[in-house]
Amino acid sequence: MTSRIAIVGGHGKTGRAVAAALARRDVVPVPLGRAEWPVLADHLAVCAAAYVIAPNLHPDEPSYVAEALAAVEQADVGRVAYHSVASPYVPAMPHHLGKAVSEDLVRRSRPTWTILQPGAYLQNLDLTADLEIPYDVDAVFGFADLAEVGEAAAVVLTEDGHAGATYELATRVATPAQLAAEAGYVARRVEPGDVHPWLRAMFAYYDEHGLPVGTGPLGLLLGRVGRVGGPA
Ligand SMILES: NC(=O)c1ccc[n+]([C@@H]2O[C@H](COP(=O)([O-])OP(=O)(O)OC[C@H]3O[C@@H](n4cnc5c(N)ncnc54)[C@H](OP(=O)(O)O)[C@@H]3O)[C@@H](O)[C@H]2O)c1
Repeated sequence: MTSRIAIVGGHGKTGRAVAAALARRDVVPVPLGRAEWPVLADHLAVCAAAYVIAPNLHPDEPSYVAEALAAVEQADVGRVAYHSVASPYVPAMPHHLGKAVSEDLVRRSRPTWTILQPGAYLQNLDLTADLEIPYDVDAVFGFADLAEVGEAAAVVLTEDGHAGATYELATRVATPAQLAAEAGYVARRVEPGDVHPWLRAMFAYYDEHGLPVGTGPLGLLLGRVGRVGGPA
């Protein structure tokens, strides 16, 4: 029988990437959103595993994840993977910190668990024109390609050997200025304008530190490199 895998918070761009990768593995993806939230356990009961994605900038991600994990356990789903972020324990970025607390909940939950920690998505940057971003264009990032994030999720959800593992995910290490130049454009720093305070905090952190992420674990998961330490 073809297995079904739930994607909690699955209707956004991340969920769509995970669903596409699962479908390529002959798994039926079951994206779940707000409509299903009140009866999440009923929807999870027919699924072999669950991928848990919190909506962007959720005001209380640990509560969201705790509710999702409770439903996973109630439905007796044996395997869960949680969509975290690279460098979750950064007190200066509240939405990262919410993921650090949520990771602890996942590690203390009953199902077999895996945690994925993607860097900033490559697709966040509009490289079809000059790039204007509210942080240092020369800061170093480990950028994650969304399709590869989806593929990594499908690997840990359907293959053995990932129980209790935490993987940071980056497709390539680069600065925004380098990516813009490759696309034939110029990158420039602009003021952030009126944005969510957590985004303002994130831009301030990026400005000073970027968000470097190693490429080794994703390369290994996708079978691209045979050892950690291949080309960045
Ligand atoms: N952007 C990046 O570079 C990056 C990098 C690493 C990690 N992340 C993480 O990726 C996640 C965001 O992924 P995304 O942009 O694909 O998702 P998203 O579009 O923000 O969220 C989509 C899903 O969340 C559900 N949802 C929204 N509010 C809800 C609520 N109050 N209760 C229950 N469900 C709710 C939506 O339900 P409906 O279907 O009902 O609309 C939808 O299924 C975040 O956790 C973010 O931190 C992002």
